[in-house]
Amino acid sequence: MNESDKRIAAMAAIEEVRAGMIVGLGTGSTAAFAITALGERRLDIRAVATSKASEAMARAAGIPLIDFPAQIDLTIDGADEIDPTLAAIKGAGGAMLREKIVAAASTRMIVIADGSKRVDAIGNAPVPVEVLPFGIAFVSARLADLGAHVTVRKDFVTDQGNAIIDCVFPATIDHMRLSQNIAAIPGALGHGLFLTEVSAAYIADRGVVTRLERRVASD
Ligand code: 5RP
Repeated sequence: MNESDKRIAAMAAIEEVRAGMIVGLGTGSTAAFAITALGERRLDIRAVATSKASEAMARAAGIPLIDFPAQIDLTIDGADEIDPTLAAIKGAGGAMLREKIVAAASTRMIVIADGSKRVDAIGNAPVPVEVLPFGIAFVSARLADLGAHVTVRKDFVTDQGNAIIDCVFPATIDHMRLSQNIAAIPGALGHGLFLTEVSAAYIADRGVVTRLERRVASD
């Protein structure tokens, strides 16, 4: 992981932010660069944070925060893996539940990352699943039924007071189906597969930023 690449990916992405926008602020070390840089630009924006940590960072950067509205113009967030189709795995930082809601509400969601996150196909990073503590044993068993090697994240509580189960699935698994299957488990509150949410990615590798845009199917 390269801190300078994270920073330049963030700097490139914030160029898309315009005055008047409601901006979704992601979580993690790469998103932190975007939050700080956005604060320095002093644009007339309002923001929604995807975690308590990002909320504190936004406050420190002087970015006005608002309650979560139904629609967000642009969200900028990190990822743990992203592939050429812009399918991503998120949640190493444990914020993927709020990140997913914010992404779903966003007209445009941009992932920022250094080159270490770019993969040919997602599936090596564990898929985190946020779980109601009451249901950990049940949800773990259901995830194992779906093919996961499960590990309850140690000494970790999400901003919502829940637990996280990190799941390693076989590389060949159908992620779209998996996403639906995890979502259908009672007690599983959210997961880190972002298969359709990402509109674009700015990925920096050794000082060079590449922008990838989601292809829109044309008829
Ligand atoms: C947090 C996330 C992060 O965006 C992801 O883990 C990337 O973090 P970093 O930029 O620190 O590598 O999904 O839930």
